[in-house]
Amino acid sequence: MTRKIIIDTDPGQDDALAILLALGAPELDILGITCVAGNVPLALTTINARKICELAGRPDIKVFAGCDRPLERTLVTAEHVHGKTGLDGVDLPEPMMPLQPEDAVSFIIDSLRAASDRSITLVPIGPLTNIATALQRAPDIAPKIAEIVLMGGAYFEVGNITPTAEFNIYVDPEAAQIVFGAGIPLTVMPLDVTHKAVTYPEWVEGFRAQGTELGLAVAGWTGFFERFDKEKYGSQGAPLHDPCTIAYLIAPDLFSGRHINVEIEVSSPLTLGMTVADWWGVTDRAANATFMKDIDANGFFALLTERISALPGR
Ligand code: RIB
Ligand code: CA
Repeated sequence: MTRKIIIDTDPGQDDALAILLALGAPELDILGITCVAGNVPLALTTINARKICELAGRPDIKVFAGCDRPLERTLVTAEHVHGKTGLDGVDLPEPMMPLQPEDAVSFIIDSLRAASDRSITLVPIGPLTNIATALQRAPDIAPKIAEIVLMGGAYFEVGNITPTAEFNIYVDPEAAQIVFGAGIPLTVMPLDVTHKAVTYPEWVEGFRAQGTELGLAVAGWTGFFERFDKEKYGSQGAPLHDPCTIAYLIAPDLFSGRHINVEIEVSSPLTLGMTVADWWGVTDRAANATFMKDIDANGFFALLTERISALPGR
């Protein structure tokens, strides 16, 4: 039985690998890809999402434009990590496939309203603005959502955009507070686990050696994207944050974590966007998220190689 999903994304090189992995997963039925402002502005994330689909030979995928700014705050982008286009590292042709006419939030709402209870999984891998807006506009959709599997947050790893906050949460903390407080089954891939999913030279060279447009794109993207983490953390490669969500949907046993309470800081200027994870159970706040901490990295990279290498390409 395939699992119906909607990927909400701000491509970004790691978003690209997550989308490619999902396109290589017969276990998943991608109802649509909804774009949000994040790594780069919305105008670019909608172009990038379509470039990725066409690169994979899937111009049939429905791509939607969503929110172009956070609920309340000014947009913060991450060109310093992802480059000016958001997909630096490879030059791909401008997309030919159209954007869908419906806006992303309406698509999310309409898809869920037409679905049976607990039948669609949302996979946000950028700021949570689209998801929060849909929940605010149509609270009745909550019971239709099987699970939200998101990339965001950090506890042991602390922040990557501020000393305490991870980027996706930091960009729209009010949206994150709505999502984490919605009472919907929530699985979180924070930096604690994604910083253990770091590319290594042999893996990247394996894709480059394929010599295909797709293989060269994976090598080019990770080769560009790794600069930031190599410089900041001394990492050996690029942390594949967003693909952790899709890998979890395909092979959940690759991951382990705890079902705990996680709250979002929305007021302190010092710790804005922090995911306050009660990992040690020191409060009586109710558990609301499965917060992942460990990964079988060998299994993860083997899965990515197997699935992405099998894509037909353009
Ligand atoms: O902090 C990492 C997250 O921010 C990833 O989703 C990356 O694509 C960026 O959006
Ligand atoms: Ca992302």
